[in-house]
Amino acid sequence: MLEPKPVVVVTRKLPDLVETRMMELFDSALNADDRPLTGDEIIAACAQADVLVPTVTDKITGELIDALPDRLKLIANFGVGVNHIDLAACEAHGVTITNTPGVLTEDTADMTLALLLAAPRRLMEGDRLVRSGGWTGWTPTFMIGDRIAGKRLGIIGMGRIGQAVARRARGFNMSIHYHNRNRVHADVEAELEATWWQDLDQMLAHMDYISVNCPLNTETYHLLSEKRLRLLQPHAFVVNTARGEIIDEAALARLLAEGAIAGAALDVYEREPDVGPGLMKLDNVVLAPHLGSATREGRIAMGEKVMINIRAFADGHTPPDRVIHGNAG
Ligand code: DGY
Repeated sequence: MLEPKPVVVVTRKLPDLVETRMMELFDSALNADDRPLTGDEIIAACAQADVLVPTVTDKITGELIDALPDRLKLIANFGVGVNHIDLAACEAHGVTITNTPGVLTEDTADMTLALLLAAPRRLMEGDRLVRSGGWTGWTPTFMIGDRIAGKRLGIIGMGRIGQAVARRARGFNMSIHYHNRNRVHADVEAELEATWWQDLDQMLAHMDYISVNCPLNTETYHLLSEKRLRLLQPHAFVVNTARGEIIDEAALARLLAEGAIAGAALDVYEREPDVGPGLMKLDNVVLAPHLGSATREGRIAMGEKVMINIRAFADGHTPPDRVIHGNAG
């Protein structure tokens, strides 16, 4: 690696193991108290930096990128989604972006299945009842939910995570349907016995469960609009472990309250950490605090990827997880 060590600014607290290695490898500025930084604080922290390591909680806007020093040529995101970074501005400034794909696939798919089970089986509602002391005992008609075996699961976005969700759902005897811009390889379709729907609206109208697993971008913002959500059958459940902005959250809350959809289980929200008040008061929705990748193993592996990307870039190589190549200028 070239000397001196690259100066790296990390915006949030990372697992201890990752921070220790970051200190060994780079001239790192860590965020020990984990307070989210404002845009101005990020700019100030980066005055002498070569690399910025943000997370999904940082809004890396075009304005912020304009204000970064010329020497900062790499944004090594701690996370797979890069919707919080203005990619066009990075490209214009010759800033390369990397992310951490692959290492959070299994964890996110596990969380999706956990939510897919929790909502129709009323797990959180049951937990609240037991804790309240209001449970009066088993009866044949008490807290009846919905089965997932034998039902149709429509996956929106059949990338790594979508496929990992499908594999698990097959294990629960669900039949797999998906909407994706491109049809996946025939071998994958055969393995998963998956049906491709080119038309999302048609798929929505025929599913029992929907799982959102696509990235957020200009095409997927409010992909599940009120109009689309109204295509779902009244017994349908919606699970989202991707990004909140893919669903019109206020419309979802309205439809859930009306009983136009049976339930939802969400790990992500439009304005995190705020959750719309409409959702908060509903019993037929499970609300998780963006935990998809939150395993010890996953977060360390994400840190490893960040370091490998920085190291490769600093050594003059193409970083393995390059999202955009910023070699403008
Ligand atoms: C990601 O990596 O994009 C996740 O949402 C963070 O857990």
